[in-house]
Amino acid sequence: MTDARLLIDSQGRVLRDLRVSITDRCNFRCLYCLPETEAAQNFYRGHWAHLPNSAPIVPQWVPKAHLLSFEEIERVIRLAVSLGIQKVRLTGGEPLLRQNVEDLVARIAGIPGITDLAMTTNGFLFPPKASALRAAGLRRVSFSLDSLTGDNFRKITGREGLDEVLASIKLAQTLGLHPVKVNAVVIRGLNDHEIEALAGFAREHDLSLRFIEFMPLDSARAWLKEMVVPGHEVLARLLARFDLRPVAADHPSATAKRWSFPDGRGEIGIIAPVSEPFCGHCNRIRLTADGKIRTCLFSVTEHDLRSQLRAGASDEAISEWLKAVVWQKEARHHIGEPDFVPPPRSMSCIGG
Ligand code: 5AD
Ligand code: SF4
Repeated sequence: MTDARLLIDSQGRVLRDLRVSITDRCNFRCLYCLPETEAAQNFYRGHWAHLPNSAPIVPQWVPKAHLLSFEEIERVIRLAVSLGIQKVRLTGGEPLLRQNVEDLVARIAGIPGITDLAMTTNGFLFPPKASALRAAGLRRVSFSLDSLTGDNFRKITGREGLDEVLASIKLAQTLGLHPVKVNAVVIRGLNDHEIEALAGFAREHDLSLRFIEFMPLDSARAWLKEMVVPGHEVLARLLARFDLRPVAADHPSATAKRWSFPDGRGEIGIIAPVSEPFCGHCNRIRLTADGKIRTCLFSVTEHDLRSQLRAGASDEAISEWLKAVVWQKEARHHIGEPDFVPPPRSMSCIGG
């Protein structure tokens, strides 16, 4: 493959990973993403009322007619793969809310050149879909799980559902969707007291648990750096409790610093985009459910692909357009700096 057939940005980064959000809707209301409940408001007000805040985002749900169809999504992925994309992750909102999502998985699994096809889900709707997704060609699933107690789970996600999510994780393991990953966003004063318990859970159940720093992608715009538990603090606490050994990264673009337990069961990953940015090796781009390309989680501009798809643009024209868009990928995020502007849409629209 020559360079002219790759997606390369002005910093020389080669894009290999495409995150595809297939719906902006969600059946959860996570405090760090789409906070809506009184408990979420109380948390933010109660702990941090003395700190400044900016205006919340009022969620504007994507109209159905603007959602890319499965045909459109498949076409974009095919073109992206012909330009060097190797990994595809389906996200949301909650991707399992999209009807017949297994048909989309089957279409994508049939595209030659994809080495990794995964999904990030909150897990609540996973059990009835699990076998069909597996049969359609899904290889890996990441579940969001930020608490192991019913009360805190409800406070964080705005819903009852801990038992369902735990059952889904078990089911994914039974179906061999290995390694099953679990994402835990850590927020000071909310679930940081559960760090050790979550790590113990990963060890007990042979899971790959990722601790993720809270990023300013919440619709409440309530994020403050004081709420972030830096990755090094998570690590120090884990090292005080567990005998962990570093695992070598398999690729420079890997976001997680990984640690294993001595008996090889379970794994810990620490993802620290705020305190230790990894933008220099980022090889990801995103496609939103309404057909916009985002070159960074924190992009403040989106590139409208839907209108081109629907105006009958040729494969060649779209490929050239994608290359031009990717070239403009942001060098890095500016979280915590005076000039930082949060993106206009929350994580539920962007896709994790
Ligand atoms: N900060 C960090 N991670 C987040 N996620 C959602 N919102 C945020 C945020 N503000 C994570 C969830 C989910 C994935 C899609 O993104 O844990 O697993
Ligand atoms: Fe839904 Fe995921 Fe956002 Fe939670 S983080 S509200 S599960 S999209």
